[in-house]
Amino acid sequence: MDDTTTLAKVTSTELTAPRETREQLADDLVAALDEGRSMPPMHLYDAHGSALFERITQVAEYYLTGAEAEILAREADAIVAAVRPHEIVELGSGSSIKTGALLTAMQQAGTGQRYAALDVSTAALDEAAERLAREHPQLWIDNYTGDFHTDLKHVPRSGTRLLLFLGSTLGNMRPTERRSLLRAAAETLRPGDAFLIGLDLVKDLDVLLPAYDDAEGVAAAFGLNLLRVIDRELDADIPLEAFRYEAVWDPGEECVEMRLVAIRDVTATVGALDRTITFAAGDHLVTEHSYKFRPERFATELASLGLAIETVHTDSNELFAAVLVRPDAD
Ligand code: SAH
Ligand code: TRP
Repeated sequence: MDDTTTLAKVTSTELTAPRETREQLADDLVAALDEGRSMPPMHLYDAHGSALFERITQVAEYYLTGAEAEILAREADAIVAAVRPHEIVELGSGSSIKTGALLTAMQQAGTGQRYAALDVSTAALDEAAERLAREHPQLWIDNYTGDFHTDLKHVPRSGTRLLLFLGSTLGNMRPTERRSLLRAAAETLRPGDAFLIGLDLVKDLDVLLPAYDDAEGVAAAFGLNLLRVIDRELDADIPLEAFRYEAVWDPGEECVEMRLVAIRDVTATVGALDRTITFAAGDHLVTEHSYKFRPERFATELASLGLAIETVHTDSNELFAAVLVRPDAD
């Protein structure tokens, strides 16, 4: 938190150093290789990964962004009227494009002028702040580079808070991890605060799966970028062309599992781990999961954490939901 710079009305604070992220990448890779664990999504978002993700949001098959944007555009005023936020704080803010509707609504209602964004991608934060500062000249923007699993408690509060977790990023966590993130978020909520969570809903696989394996191959490039990050950050030489990408539905877990599958036997070295790794043809590395939600079931999960759903907003095709959550009065 010592590294704060101020530029007009934008501040940037580093809560997690790049070195810590690299050490975590090394630990996570060891756990993935030795314990069959999957990699946490944060490593996918270097500058290139963040740019690829923005392209995913624009491919025709990726219905999530449009559906959530529709909800936010339609409901922003009502959400702001219900919460009267003094500040909007966003986890995994990325480009912050959809957030614009809520920022405008907050400013028009005159309840607050502060936006704090917490993301692991400094590139995404910088780019978003530049645009937001132009489009919302009265806004105070505080950018935090960090890990939303651990760093939210370090984001100072200035008053009634509307906390955002959009894009169904919550769905990229396994259930235990999701629970600990929700608990950590709940611990920061005061009476009067609210938590708006974007959730992709369980739906027909003909609609769902192509979002994770688009014809243009952008989702595939995004997944393969994990190998590029490992090669660069951990001094490795894993050949990208030896892997193909696939997205598979797990009906028990109701999630999409995204994987890189070796198309031949692969031997590579990871310099930072001083280790040789091997994949037999057909072996895979899980890059990510995307869990899908049922609001009734999610309400039960929240209740056990002292949280309650106040409103469920869905888009006109009922693909996506934005749920407004409140801490139980205690
Ligand atoms: N909210 C945006 C972006 C979603 S993509 C949208 O809806 O379009 C997920 C975002 O979360 C990325 O910007 C990524 O950099 C960020 N992210 C992933 N893991 C993170 C972590 N552990 N801590 C902080 N940010 C993380
Ligand atoms: N959270 C979003 C989702 O699950 C975005 C996302 C994360 C994504 N990783 C992805 C989309 C990989 C496509 C491929 O849809």
